[in-house]
Amino acid sequence: MTKETKERRTPLPRVIWQSVFRNPIPETDLERSSTSFTNFFLHVHPVKVNKHTLRPSYTLGLGLMSLFLFLILIVTGILLMFYYVPSTTQAYDRMLDLRGAVAFGIFLRNMHRWSAHGMVAIVFLHLCRVFLTGAYKKPREFNWVIGVVLLLLTLFMSFTGYLLPWDQLAFWAITVGTSIAGYAPLIGKQMQFVLLGDTSVGQEALLRFYVLHVAVLPAILVLGIAIHFWRIRKDGGLSRPERPRPSSTSSTSSTPLRVFGLQGFVRSSFTKVGNTPDESVYTWPNLLIAELFVFILTVSLILVVSLLFNAPLEQPVNVMHPPNPAKAPWYFLGLQEMVSYSAFWGGIGIPGAMVAVLLAVPYLDRNPLGVGKWFAKERLLANTLFVTLVVLNVIFIIIGTFFRGPNWTFVSPF
Ligand code: HEM
Repeated sequence: MTKETKERRTPLPRVIWQSVFRNPIPETDLERSSTSFTNFFLHVHPVKVNKHTLRPSYTLGLGLMSLFLFLILIVTGILLMFYYVPSTTQAYDRMLDLRGAVAFGIFLRNMHRWSAHGMVAIVFLHLCRVFLTGAYKKPREFNWVIGVVLLLLTLFMSFTGYLLPWDQLAFWAITVGTSIAGYAPLIGKQMQFVLLGDTSVGQEALLRFYVLHVAVLPAILVLGIAIHFWRIRKDGGLSRPERPRPSSTSSTSSTPLRVFGLQGFVRSSFTKVGNTPDESVYTWPNLLIAELFVFILTVSLILVVSLLFNAPLEQPVNVMHPPNPAKAPWYFLGLQEMVSYSAFWGGIGIPGAMVAVLLAVPYLDRNPLGVGKWFAKERLLANTLFVTLVVLNVIFIIIGTFFRGPNWTFVSPF
């Protein structure tokens, strides 16, 4: 049979399938490489990854979880946009509609709300894992800086979304949050005005927060995440402990030696260069299965939490009756607690210095030792300082959340 007749006799569904997916389900190394090259979604992955990257105990899947939560937020956020109107006279009613009139409306809102809180927490935990494994060191310094920007953007995304339900909780949390920004020296008041479009939280602020929340910030986040991933590849994949170089004459290890192929264009791997043991595995299926697992885990968790707990919706805004105390969102309660001691230092000085130190971390700590393992003994000082600051922050958040009552006086939650 000629090639032409053979092609004509191929069943149509198969022809359609092959026009989309150029390769069969890969079975050989060559096919595994080719699949990674020719599939748009797989193309962001390298053909092979180091085995260390796949250890769940190393990354805890936190970076991927951050990504999947962001994707859930985009999908649920777009669906919510079909119902929401950023107007002080309509926003709250639309929330009530989501509760009572829109099919699965409440569930959609729950998913969006819990994913947003989850993303703030998981991105922060991901930062902690990167720090505690020394993964910000050369050559990953700049990716750490991009990461810090991603964390700030995530916080700002969550903060801008907080106002949109236009209930008492939203209004007063944002009133407190933006007044903290007003404490910044010189430009504080101007910054607050630009954010609110007015001297207090009202229609202008709602519109600005909406546009920031649904367009400006997500667009910058998508770009930032794309650069973050691109850098991971350019930096040679994820960090891992340096391997002692084996002797050039022999390898005593039972691990097979590393071999090289020419990007899948040759029939098999062919050149053996040096005697470095091969520590890598194919992305297909190893990394993809791990990613699928984290995806299913993240979606399942959000589904379960959204089924069990409803996102809060308090009374409609009443500008005459602030709740006492009016509290910022939980991730800013540490700040609010510090502000209760000193408005400038708590709201601007200390957080500003913390962000500056975070950005500078990889350039201040240039000791190359201790990369790729948790709590390496070479990093005892850095890790102890970091953990102390994190614990302090968590203590402040707990105090602000549970131990503060009317007029910010100390109360017992028990
Ligand atoms: C939207 C937020 C973020 C997303 C979606 C994200 C995603 C990821 C993913 C998927 C990885 C690879 C897997 C893993 O390490 O878990 C990664 C690695 C990395 N991330 Fe992030 N990340 C975010 C925020 C951050 C933050 C806040 C930092 C630190 C300030 C950071 C710094 C890094 C660094 C340095 C690596 C390389 C780690 C290594 O080589 O071991 N990322 N990120």
